[in-house]
Amino acid sequence: MWQNSGLTAGVETGIICGVMKTPVTVTVTGAAGNIAYSLLFRIAAGEMLGADQPVILKLLEITPCLEKLNGVVMELEDCAFPLVQEIVATDDPAVAFKNADWCMLVGSVPRKAGMERKDLLSINGKVFVGQGKAIAENAAPGCKVFVVGNPCNTNCLIAMHNATGMPKENFFAMTMLDEYRAKAQLAAKAGVQVSDVTNMTIWGNHSATQYPDYTNAKICGKPVTEVISDTEWLQTDFIKTVQQRGAAIIQARGLSSAASAANAALMTVKNLTTPTAEGDWYSVARYSDGTHYGLPEGIICSMPSRTEADGTLTIVDGLPIDEFSRGKIEASCNELLEERAEVLG
Ligand code: NAD
Ligand code: LMR
Repeated sequence: MWQNSGLTAGVETGIICGVMKTPVTVTVTGAAGNIAYSLLFRIAAGEMLGADQPVILKLLEITPCLEKLNGVVMELEDCAFPLVQEIVATDDPAVAFKNADWCMLVGSVPRKAGMERKDLLSINGKVFVGQGKAIAENAAPGCKVFVVGNPCNTNCLIAMHNATGMPKENFFAMTMLDEYRAKAQLAAKAGVQVSDVTNMTIWGNHSATQYPDYTNAKICGKPVTEVISDTEWLQTDFIKTVQQRGAAIIQARGLSSAASAANAALMTVKNLTTPTAEGDWYSVARYSDGTHYGLPEGIICSMPSRTEADGTLTIVDGLPIDEFSRGKIEASCNELLEERAEVLG
């Protein structure tokens, strides 16, 4: 196929229709699942990579769900999205990850009420062994891997370890949903718009130990603590609400978050691929090399991150970490170390 030629044409006829950007190949696993059902149509519409960016969608499912996936593909086709150049639906990871520029690893079992996300490690962890290998063997050079399936930090670590030869810096896991939850809570408490809340870091694990760092966040450019004087609320109810929001949604809906998770997944890739506003940052879990904030080496840990104007992905260093924050961050990192030990075991 001539899909990298910079032109579009009918595959059957070879008719050249116009000049377009080279398509980006996006692989989504768990493509017949709930999150994917909210995610795929927005990627196809250009909300993730841009309104002028053609995409090739590669959709991976387990064999029993291929029929359901076929229905999703039919719906994608029926949208006639101008940016979608090709859709591949498969149960073969080698096919799904072939030439992938972005691997969005959503496919895995969600938890039920009463479970913690790490209880899923023994069920979901093994999926990321095979997928990590298949990505390393098949994906495009420079491919980036973004894990949503829980427990996402440690699943990402498993994929990274199995993706021999790929840079550790190309692996990410999702804490953007937690960041948005934290921003929504702060905005409601302060009586401002969500867009007025900036500089929010989620530190550590996407779990009940995560730390939404109100000490470095801002509301209308001012420190949160200057706008919200209720320190007791910030240190207790606020943190707990964010930590437990996933469980609260499962309790209320009977299903884990899907549309909000899809939105956060889409926005994470958007944040990773577009320059971050001056002075701001976003949260994403990424490889800790042991040189930032005393975080342990060799875990996938959420930290304040930026995408610079030249596309470089950086970690924001130098934020003040008070004693309260330090204790919370350490607790979450310790949990990540425990999960890593369980996986190694
Ligand atoms: P779902 O059960 O609706 O869909 C998951 C899909 O993955 C299913 O269709 C299943 O067949 C498929 N799947 C399972 N194993 C697979 C494999 N090896 N390869 C390809 N596909 C596979 O679940 P969902 O609601 O879409 O949630 C997916 C995951 O995302 C869950 O683990 C959930 O806990 C997690 N999640 C994470 C966050 C986050 O913030 N990181 C937020 C919400 C949900
Ligand atoms: C969430 O935060 O909503 C997801 O991780 C789903 C869950 O299990 O809580």
